[in-house]
Amino acid sequence: MSKSEFYKNLQAEVNRIDKAKVAKRFEKVINSFTSDPNPRAVIAKKAYTVFNSNDYLGLRHHPELKKAEHDATTRLGTGPGAVRFISGSFQTHLILEQALADFHKKEAAILFSSAFAANLATIFSLVRKQSRDSLLNENTLILSDELNHRSIIDGIRITNLDKAARMVFKHLDIANMEDIIKQNIGEFDRVVILTDGVFSMLGEYQDLAAVNEVIGRYDAKYPQGILLIVDDCHGVAAFGKTGRGCEEVCQSPADVIVGTLGKGFGVDGGYVAASQAVIDYLRESAATYIYSNSISPGAAAAAHQSIKIIDSPEGTLLLQKLENNIQLLKKLLRSKGFEMAADSIHPIQPLLIGDALKTKALITEMFKRGYLLSSINFPVVPKGRDEIRIQLSAAHTSDDIQNFVNSLELSYDHLGFR
Ligand SMILES: Cc1ncc(COP(=O)(O)O)c(C=O)c1O
Repeated sequence: MSKSEFYKNLQAEVNRIDKAKVAKRFEKVINSFTSDPNPRAVIAKKAYTVFNSNDYLGLRHHPELKKAEHDATTRLGTGPGAVRFISGSFQTHLILEQALADFHKKEAAILFSSAFAANLATIFSLVRKQSRDSLLNENTLILSDELNHRSIIDGIRITNLDKAARMVFKHLDIANMEDIIKQNIGEFDRVVILTDGVFSMLGEYQDLAAVNEVIGRYDAKYPQGILLIVDDCHGVAAFGKTGRGCEEVCQSPADVIVGTLGKGFGVDGGYVAASQAVIDYLRESAATYIYSNSISPGAAAAAHQSIKIIDSPEGTLLLQKLENNIQLLKKLLRSKGFEMAADSIHPIQPLLIGDALKTKALITEMFKRGYLLSSINFPVVPKGRDEIRIQLSAAHTSDDIQNFVNSLELSYDHLGFR
């Protein structure tokens, strides 16, 4: 096939995606934000209230984060200039890693350019040898929740382990997970359990206490034990009284936490927090750490400021405000008879619509009324469970939420949804 034929092939595939009405590339481009207490996104000169952002605490517009980023950039430059072990390691990276380790009560932490990059390299590194003379034992059983994030799925794919060593347990089904662990005693030297903390489709979360109970029962049956890796990107800086995520809500720890700085923390980048041995090993083995730039020194300084705010009285108030907003939205939606796809206690609140075309019509109608919203459709959710994923922030005011629900009612009436 010639190159031009290949390009034609690519174009045909894009056309197919467009025809199926599942294209993602027609992005809404934000030009600026208003200076409201809850900054609104300005798109083509019109301001929109954002209900589809992961900025759960509203920290991305915080003046102290901007100042920390600006000061560090002035001192250290806009980019890292090299990967960490060459000349791209900055004081702000080290301070942030220590702060993240302390935040999660783990021995150490390591930064990545994103949580996606963190998952890819962490899963591969903790399963496969990096070189022929490596002392790592590869005889691992991977156990993964069936609705885990794409970055976990891809991390598992690149391990290239036999199918029998890559098992999937039913979503949130601890009994199913236990069965697989039980059935494989004697077959593998260790088990690695992989799960999202909070799942982003419905705002539900894995019961880490129940997972740890199972681990406690079977850990000694595997020569190298059972390792629990939790990707809590939607949990950290959003979930739990002090924003520690699922570990706090479940009162039960993971061995390894994968987090993002790009959601509740309001910046960008990813990280892993774990024992010193795991982190030291990842610094020697994780390809997306060794061969890829870290976040900029300014972003690291901003993320450190974010942690300081979350752990201050202001952070306690923000987390309380987020909780109040969740309660308020749920109460208003319930009182108006809206049906939810799940009873979430997380700032992700899934409004059940049940049909892809209806979700699209509702998003378009709400956009006309000044709101940014997103849907989750089949096949990400089962047929008939298409939803609007409402995402709350501590930055939303009570009026924002009240007005949002009123607009939702008007949109339902306008579209003949009830
Ligand atoms: C569960 C989960 N893991 C990983 C990621 C990736 O995070 P990042 O944007 O830092 O790569 C996301 C974000 O969508 C996520 O929801």
